[in-house]
Amino acid sequence: MDQKLIAPSVLAADFANLQRDIEMVNASEADWFHIDIMDGVFVPNISFGMPVLEAIAKHAKKTIDVHLMIVDPDRYIKTFADLGANNLTVHYEACTHLHRTLQAIKAEGMKAGVALNPHTPVSLLQDIINDLDQVCIMSVNPGFGGQSFIENTYKKVSELKEMILKNNAKTKIEIDGGVTSKNAKQLTEAGADILVAGSFVFKSKTPLQTIKELRAIANS
Ligand code: DX5
Ligand code: ZN
Repeated sequence: MDQKLIAPSVLAADFANLQRDIEMVNASEADWFHIDIMDGVFVPNISFGMPVLEAIAKHAKKTIDVHLMIVDPDRYIKTFADLGANNLTVHYEACTHLHRTLQAIKAEGMKAGVALNPHTPVSLLQDIINDLDQVCIMSVNPGFGGQSFIENTYKKVSELKEMILKNNAKTKIEIDGGVTSKNAKQLTEAGADILVAGSFVFKSKTPLQTIKELRAIANS
């Protein structure tokens, strides 16, 4: 079976010591960098934009997984590809023509993902599942790090896993929000492939050790 992956969310890093924190992730057992882009319109918060991503990409030595929490993401697909994004995830709720958006992401050489807000049912992906490299199930309302995990997520993960198997799809399941060593095992058992963790990693006094432990639990 494939290894379960850990993707530290840079949103929780110390922005005054960004290079230090990026190097920490490079040296760790983490698999991906998760990068949260928020526009203050789709979500009630603004994170950071292109110049910061460019600076991160200069140092990052692992897959760059970009999570766009913005309206009209089609405008910036090429920009994110040029900045070094390997995976680009857009929100289901922000895309009127999701199929077209996913094709445009793939045409730029990136893996294409869609994120679902906590209220958005997995069943809406039925007719697009074979076009998706990954689905990000939001286990908090997007916009902020450090929120608590929504328990209904487990059910959504199981449903999505079933849909993937039924359709013979290769789609990976990513979980974003409130992930800790307490819920990691139950999430991977339900079918999660990638765990995003912000506060749990960066607020830890020993982040290298925390990443190692989280990865071990996810793969146990
Ligand atoms: C929330 C972001 C998450 C966030 C996760 O809108 O998409 O990636 O950084 O942070 P934690 O792990 O602290 O919930
Ligand atoms: Zn995210």
